[in-house]
Amino acid sequence: MCGIVGYIGKKDCVSFLIEGLKRVEYRGYDSAGIVVLDESSSSIHIKKSVGKIIDLEKKIDNRDIGNLGLAHTRWATHGEPSMENSHPHISNNKKIYLVHNGIIENYISLQKRLEAKGYKFYSETDTEILVNLIESYYTDDIELAVKKALFDVKGTYGIGVLHVDEPDKLIVARLGSPLLIGIGENENYFASDPASVISKTDDVVYLDDKEIGVIYKDRVVHKNLEDEIITKNIEKIDIDVQEIEKDGYEHFMLKEIFQQPRTLIDTMRGRIILDEGTTNLGGLRQHPQVYNALIKAEKIYIIACGTSWHSALIGEYMIEEYAKIPVEVEYASEFRYRDPIISEKTVVIAISQSGETADTLAALKEAKRKGAYTIGLCNVVGSTISKVTDAGVYLHAGPEIGVASTKAFTSQVMALALITVDIARHKDMSFREGYKIVKEMKLLPTLINSILDNSMVVKDIALKFKDAKNFLYLGRGFNFPVALEGALKLKEISYIHAEGYPAAEMKHGPIALIDKDMPVIFIAIKDAIYDKVITNMKEVKARNGVIITIASYGDEEIESISDYVIKIPDTTNLLMPILTVIPLQLLAYYIAVEKGFNVDMPRNLAKSVTVE
Ligand code: G6P
Repeated sequence: MCGIVGYIGKKDCVSFLIEGLKRVEYRGYDSAGIVVLDESSSSIHIKKSVGKIIDLEKKIDNRDIGNLGLAHTRWATHGEPSMENSHPHISNNKKIYLVHNGIIENYISLQKRLEAKGYKFYSETDTEILVNLIESYYTDDIELAVKKALFDVKGTYGIGVLHVDEPDKLIVARLGSPLLIGIGENENYFASDPASVISKTDDVVYLDDKEIGVIYKDRVVHKNLEDEIITKNIEKIDIDVQEIEKDGYEHFMLKEIFQQPRTLIDTMRGRIILDEGTTNLGGLRQHPQVYNALIKAEKIYIIACGTSWHSALIGEYMIEEYAKIPVEVEYASEFRYRDPIISEKTVVIAISQSGETADTLAALKEAKRKGAYTIGLCNVVGSTISKVTDAGVYLHAGPEIGVASTKAFTSQVMALALITVDIARHKDMSFREGYKIVKEMKLLPTLINSILDNSMVVKDIALKFKDAKNFLYLGRGFNFPVALEGALKLKEISYIHAEGYPAAEMKHGPIALIDKDMPVIFIAIKDAIYDKVITNMKEVKARNGVIITIASYGDEEIESISDYVIKIPDTTNLLMPILTVIPLQLLAYYIAVEKGFNVDMPRNLAKSVTVE
């Protein structure tokens, strides 16, 4: 979603700001803008463009220089992508420049108040209201004006502010939208994502909610909104620059699919105790109260959005079957607005790759307010959700750049399996069963490699079906959520309508759609409900449907009922989704590439959805 970058120092910062924006391009945006101030000549230069950052770059010429500045990528919420609506926004007196992530919810009442004072507005954005609100409070101190304005604001913000009469400083503040300050030598930076500053520094300070940073060239002053100076820790960014490069792959998504054998090892590292047939998650055990509450929980809610919601569903199957605790999976956006029944015996697990998804964060806050213990499963270290939860498990999958989530999904499923075994071993799960599962976990990377080695089989199928208008994905048990995830991947990047269903549910509706033009993907691995899935496949065949099956190695019977078969190795049932999803990720990828779409940045989607 929106990205923010800022710089103050002695050097020309245009290329740093543009590079910083490019580092967050993957998060999704539809316009971009930059403002730089040259202190020596007191000249200000602002450029905006609708579309890609490359279009913004084309507008910048060698007169556009400055030693402090702000840049922004905007994902439209209030008003369409346009020059007027893109950031930076300028106050009426043309002195204050603002970039903003988040949403000012009470912007209409603020707008009326400002209009009564004679302010004019030229965009449809809430951000333009905020910059003028700041101006309305300004006498001679931008820091003070920002603080006063923020007191009036309801909603969320991560902001960067520049005043042309105070070129020695930039002001940043946050409430609900991520913001960090990068510490350099005689220069400082800020950004909404650490990837934007990593080329300059790995020393950063993460702002917490309702905090302000006054950033000078050679120092940073941290305050809260009450104007008290606060002490903040400098932390190290935990990103390897190579992780945010394509590394020879055509797309980030392909790289991330092929990284999965390694990312799963990273998720498991140090967490398996083979000779005890169990697992050990430091982020849970270090919080004994939460850990005990989890083991003794009478009810677990798992809240998430998108792909993370699909891994949550797999978590429900796992925890109920092995740890014997009732689990309810909820879309975070629904959970937050209904009245879920929560007692002190309820534990709420939030799953979020980014750790910033606004709906998940808000649902989590609601769960905390109602007294539940909360646990976060996040990939991004230091993200908001990882901070507000009582305990957590990091995925350690490394930065995921492709908008369509792949490696984070398999790591989420792995993290849920690790948690399940940990709880279950405190209950009825025997050493023998625990041992079998954790041993299988360790084999998964090799098994995934064998699937990836056969990716050409999937590519051939993709070429045959790239022009299909609809797809149906069917699976049962642990593989039903995988069917949902396969359908979502296809929708997200190839814009083909696809639906996932539990295979048996097909006869209650979707069967009406089946004809020779409807490819139906079955996940039919040799498990306890294999025979039931075969029956469902026959129902499709009887209606001339075209069947593509994800099947187990050595299953000969499946060939006669399927038109195309993708064979994969077997593992224990709760880990199977980690294998069955791989061909579906590849299928979506190859179809999107064949159709010529921008796989890493699909239209309208954002990697991290920081608005409601
Ligand atoms: C967006 C992304 C999805 C992601 C979802 C939840 O919609 O495009 O890929 O699954 O947000 O994101 P989270 O970071 O909370 O897992």
